[in-house]
Amino acid sequence: MDQQYMVFLLLLLLFFLFQVQLVAAETSSQDFSGLQSLTQSWTNKPPNWVGTDPCGSNWDGIRCTSSRITQLKLASLNLVGQLSSAIQLLPELDTVDLSYNTGLTGTIPKEIGNLEKLKSLALAGCGFFGPIPDSIGSLKQLTFLALNSNRFNGSIPRSMGNLSNVNWLDLADNQLEGPIPVSDDQGQPGLDLLLKAQHFHFGVNKLSGQIPPNLFNSSMILKHVLFDNNKLVGTIPHTLSLVTTVEVVRFDRNGLTGEMPSNFNNLEKLSELYLSHNEFNGPLPDLTGLNSLTYVDMSNNSFTSSDYIPSWVTSLESLTTVILGDNQLNGTFNISNDYSNSLQLINMQNNVITEYEPGSQTISFDVILAGNPFCLENGVSQKSFCQVPEVNPSYSTPQNNCSPQTCSNSQISSPNCKCAYPYGGSLISRALSITNFNTSDYKDIEQSLMDSFGLHSLPVDSVRLSDPVKNSSINNFQFTLSVFPSQTDRFNRTGVLLIAFVLSNQIYKPPEFFSPYFFTGSSYGYYGGEPKKSSSGHTGIIIGAVLAVLAFLVLAVLAGMYAIHQKRRAQRTKEKNPFANWEQTKNSGIAPQLKGARWFSFDELLRCTNNFAKANTIGSGGYGQVYQGVLPSGELVAIKRAANESRQGAVEFKTEIELLSRVHHKNLVSLVGFCFEKDEQMLVYEYIPNGTLMDSLSGKSGIWMDWIRRLKVTLGAAKGLSYLHELANPPIIHRDIKSGNILLDSHLNAKVADFGLSKLLLDSDRGHVTTQVKGTMGYLDPEYYMTLQLTEKSDVYSFGVLMLELVTARRPIEQGKYIVREVMGVMDTSKDLYNLHSILDPTIIKDTKPKGLEKFVELALRCVNEYGHERPSMADVVKEVENIIELVGFNPNSESATTSESYNVEKGGDVIHPYVKEDFHYSGSVPSVKLEPQ
Ligand SMILES: *[C@@H]1O[C@H](CO)[C@@H](O)[C@H](O)[C@H]1NC(C)=O
Ligand SMILES: *[C@@H]1O[C@H](CO)[C@@H](O)[C@H](O)[C@H]1NC(C)=O
Ligand SMILES: *[C@@H]1O[C@H](CO)[C@@H](O)[C@H](O)[C@H]1NC(C)=O
Ligand SMILES: *[C@@H]1O[C@H](CO)[C@@H](O)[C@H](O)[C@H]1NC(C)=O
Ligand SMILES: *[C@@H]1O[C@H](CO)[C@@H](O)[C@H](O)[C@H]1NC(C)=O
Ligand SMILES: *[C@@H]1O[C@H](CO)[C@@H](O)[C@H](O)[C@H]1NC(C)=O
Repeated sequence: MDQQYMVFLLLLLLFFLFQVQLVAAETSSQDFSGLQSLTQSWTNKPPNWVGTDPCGSNWDGIRCTSSRITQLKLASLNLVGQLSSAIQLLPELDTVDLSYNTGLTGTIPKEIGNLEKLKSLALAGCGFFGPIPDSIGSLKQLTFLALNSNRFNGSIPRSMGNLSNVNWLDLADNQLEGPIPVSDDQGQPGLDLLLKAQHFHFGVNKLSGQIPPNLFNSSMILKHVLFDNNKLVGTIPHTLSLVTTVEVVRFDRNGLTGEMPSNFNNLEKLSELYLSHNEFNGPLPDLTGLNSLTYVDMSNNSFTSSDYIPSWVTSLESLTTVILGDNQLNGTFNISNDYSNSLQLINMQNNVITEYEPGSQTISFDVILAGNPFCLENGVSQKSFCQVPEVNPSYSTPQNNCSPQTCSNSQISSPNCKCAYPYGGSLISRALSITNFNTSDYKDIEQSLMDSFGLHSLPVDSVRLSDPVKNSSINNFQFTLSVFPSQTDRFNRTGVLLIAFVLSNQIYKPPEFFSPYFFTGSSYGYYGGEPKKSSSGHTGIIIGAVLAVLAFLVLAVLAGMYAIHQKRRAQRTKEKNPFANWEQTKNSGIAPQLKGARWFSFDELLRCTNNFAKANTIGSGGYGQVYQGVLPSGELVAIKRAANESRQGAVEFKTEIELLSRVHHKNLVSLVGFCFEKDEQMLVYEYIPNGTLMDSLSGKSGIWMDWIRRLKVTLGAAKGLSYLHELANPPIIHRDIKSGNILLDSHLNAKVADFGLSKLLLDSDRGHVTTQVKGTMGYLDPEYYMTLQLTEKSDVYSFGVLMLELVTARRPIEQGKYIVREVMGVMDTSKDLYNLHSILDPTIIKDTKPKGLEKFVELALRCVNEYGHERPSMADVVKEVENIIELVGFNPNSESATTSESYNVEKGGDVIHPYVKEDFHYSGSVPSVKLEPQ
């Protein structure tokens, strides 16, 4: 028995050592649970994702900075699942790369917009679909955005115009439709605001409408402007020529019409111009000044010319390829003698050319005139320039001075003749500017790839390019790229993730003629190549013995843990009755009747708030602290933890949670659960992201509200309160209506919070005298204060004060002045805006006159009538506010009119908030006084 006891103690010791290690984890528990929620439903996660410490134990693809998860580099892992809103639970992320996981599907959650620190987002080549969320515009830090090669539909959100730092914007190869958004005079953003962007890749979508002239201007620094393969109509705007930095322009394969702008000549850096497959007409544009031009394709249009071919065709020094086939070019095709040496091809097929004058020298480039009247003449039809040469590129990187191995197990012989499993995919040029590859061109691509991998110390032995294919329908050019591992015969996950990242994030820079490019990676099925350990004879026995001992220890520890677990379970079952504590407390009455709210253990809440860490605090007041927490499900909650002195008796606490759990309304903050254990009283609420109305009005939260939003907040709060008064059974009087108790959700819907002082209005209580006046100075109904009779009309009074606060953005009592008296003092109904200009919040009367404001103030003043019976009911208030909103021209019942995307977040902006102006800090600590009658 004793011995068993010793063993048990030993095991216990081991167990605690193990525990201690877990506690010493490096990863913030908030991030760990965030990552878990995010990846919960994913399959094919890397096998080393075990334990609770992604940062400390170097999980594949997860990178951290001082215990916070900052990077997810998970490209090409063959992940299957969805990108859930839990992504917002990793708020420190600066880099997210989920590219080339075709099994990641579904829509992009709007919560992605909450990742304020995100700099790079790559979701290329996945299976995502649906709209690109408007909230993407909130990613102010973003410099790199690749959403190409998915199935996104809907329109390009104009909020993208807010990505003021974006350099790389790739939305190509999706099903995006509608117009190209540009900013308008109403201040709505558009793509023209992207003054740091160098890459507009919008090809292969269904964009329609005209190309807006103000899409381009001289402040821009665009290099690649790709709008090919869409449904754009109209002309190319003249403004394009203002962007003198452009190098590649693709407008091919649209429905564009008209003549070319005449001022293209400013585009000194323009190297590739693709205008084919449109309905352009008129003369060929004058490109004489485009000294960098190498490749121009204007085929398949209706260009005409009056009997000569423009001189630039032969005079431009760097020009290699001119494709003018399938147009209406007529007259004589005439090549001057001083054509440039770079020229490789002039394609004039299928025009109406009747003469060909090659000049006196033999020419060193190809001319294609097939399909012109000239080639129908006898004697020339067999000439090579009347044929269309077959172009069938074929290439595969040759062996590097060695003889290829015969490999087994589907390994492949690398260019260095080593058998291995390569990682690969397609390397695709969006604008290939050479017609005929030379050996040196292939070598350039291969060398640039090796240089790039070398620069990042990736374990790459060699690369092979093979299977070149030109996709003529969209005009792309692709290779198969195989990357071979060095040292071992296969990559581990880290290797693949890093190679894929270099390609997905455009860290690899190809030679100019191949640029811009993109890559789509295949999944890699050969992981796991740990070098095999030789185990023979002696060593074998030792290893065997060690393993046996280890196995025994593990079993023993497991047994110990099991025992402890069982014991704890027993304990927990006992504790599971949350009301056990009531039973223990004398006179506590029967257990509470809860609807939908759950019981939390103290430990549970400890875990989900990071041990009530300071960083999780989101508010504090007389009652105690409010913490933000993340439940294991990923749900965000706000936990109100009562301070010692504000703890209530068990009965009061029970009453409160019963009350809270009973009310369910979209304008009331709902209770998720509670904790009543170890002398703690905690309430767990749904988390409301945008803080209090007070913080908005004071400018503290950075959310600025215009007049219509203020009306909607009024309406929401009134509906919530009206529900408490009229639909809750028994009715509930809030008793502490104030701007600090109105919270704003992500759509700026108002939610009434903090029923801490609420009173159930039991019939027996109606009109009864209470013993204690509770509430907040400035909002307190004077009638209640004097008569101690509590009715719903006391809430109406407070609500009237709140309404005045909304129009003036002043605190109810400020520098000794009472808002109700101030308003009544200056009000003159015979004058414009009732003469209230001096007292109204300047920002709501800045531009336009706030419609319905007079009615709103009248209603507020009726609410603060001296006599309760003369005040309207909350239901009346709801109706009247609805009428005002209709008057302003909005539908009071449309929730979506106010989305989180459309509000103005001003952090350190130039809006001056009245509170700030008066150097009066309206921060969270307005005293919530409890007045004891003398
Ligand atoms: C986008 O695609 C989904 C299905 O993939 C479809 O249900 C939806 O209607 C589409 N939306 C638009 C705007 O075309
Ligand atoms: C864009 O940003 C501005 C300024 O921050 C903001 O006012 C506007 O609402 C945002 N627009 C969209 C569509 O996100
Ligand atoms: C270019 O457009 C942006 C956004 O519309 C504007 O801020 C800027 O002043 C314009 N620059 C010029 C030179 O017109
Ligand atoms: C070539 O086409 C232009 C425009 O259609 C026309 O004006 C001109 O007369 C034509 N020239 C010849 C030689 O047919
Ligand atoms: C014009 O378009 C057709 C059909 O897409 C294509 O076969 C032809 O090669 C194009 N012409 C030129 C000169 O590229
Ligand atoms: C993965 O491969 C790289 C390079 O070959 C190596 O440095 C690293 O230690 C490997 N990682 C694991 C977990 O084996």
